[in-house]
Amino acid sequence: MRPVDVSPGSPPTTESVHDHHPALYVARHRAPDSQCLDGRDRDGRVGRRGLRGGRLRDDRGHEPDGASWLREQIRIARSLTGRPFGVGFISSFPDTAELARVALDEGVAAINHSFADPTPFIAPAHAAGVKVFVQVQTLTQAITAARAGADVIIAQGGEAGGHAGALGTFALLPAVVDAVAPAPVVAAGGIADGRGLAAALLLGAQGAWMGTRFVTSHEWGGPSWEQDAVLAATSDDTVQTRLYDLIGERPFPAENPDRMLRNAFIDRWTGRESEIPAHREALQAEVAAGHERADLAVAGVSAGVSAGLITSAQPASEIVRGIVQEAEDLLRERPRMLLG
Ligand SMILES: Cc1cc2nc3c(=O)[nH]c(=O)nc-3n(C[C@H](O)[C@H](O)[C@H](O)COP(=O)(O)O)c2cc1C
Repeated sequence: MRPVDVSPGSPPTTESVHDHHPALYVARHRAPDSQCLDGRDRDGRVGRRGLRGGRLRDDRGHEPDGASWLREQIRIARSLTGRPFGVGFISSFPDTAELARVALDEGVAAINHSFADPTPFIAPAHAAGVKVFVQVQTLTQAITAARAGADVIIAQGGEAGGHAGALGTFALLPAVVDAVAPAPVVAAGGIADGRGLAAALLLGAQGAWMGTRFVTSHEWGGPSWEQDAVLAATSDDTVQTRLYDLIGERPFPAENPDRMLRNAFIDRWTGRESEIPAHREALQAEVAAGHERADLAVAGVSAGVSAGLITSAQPASEIVRGIVQEAEDLLRERPRMLLG
């Protein structure tokens, strides 16, 4: 197994895995905090947290100033770790350029761009010595990112929790690996255990990028009722929807709906998207109130198909250790079983 190493000065991938694990995590919440780094970092991995670009709201709908909030979060992260860490952006949001400049000023090790052409962001990052990860949902996007000089490409399948495309990880990943070689590729979407990590590595990935699994980590910044809902969900309980983005007027690309736990609100409004503008304020109030009272029939909870594989909440460091150990065991034992 090979890790993705984004330490300053390192090539994008290096060395063997024994003290670096090929697992990265992201999962943003409306009010993400840098504390999630803590559990993982004590174990010596690169912590990554999805710091959401654009409107940064806390649970009460407050919108702090994005640039100063981001600066503060990076400084908190740095106070918690001597290890390199990165910042992820939803790059279709309008203030991405401003926030990316803050991340570069603050000297993060890596930046991730998702949901927009990363080309304008790559040269300034490289000039600052910062690695650029780009999360893509199609082969064409992967080729664009590789030509633009992305250091690591994350091939994200539609199984993923949160915003994603339509293609499945299992077929998209090896196609991207072939198309962008020798650029390193990381797999995202549907991976929550060692079986998924082992499969991704065999398909040519350098590592796995997981979100849903870390929603159930002790360090996650969101409410425990969302974690409980993800733990209770089966593989059949998620759906891709644009409803909450349309209601909240969040500027995600139309081809990247949010995979969420299916609920009565989604069932009621699916197919009625054109009615949303006329009811927007009432719907925004309904959704906010649903979150306030932890009402799963109304509140949107982002989670991937892999929710059905997760049975317990654990510290992030234990999650990583368990997944990597299971993958290592499988990669040793399965060939013996299959090939004799
Ligand atoms: C709760 C949650 C929030 C997410 N937020 C973001 C985000 O802000 N930006 C982003 O690029 N991806 C986000 N993702 C998607 C992840 O980057 C990743 O592609 C996905 O979680 C991988 O699939 P998995 O959920 O099956 O592990 C989010 C995923 C989850 C579950």
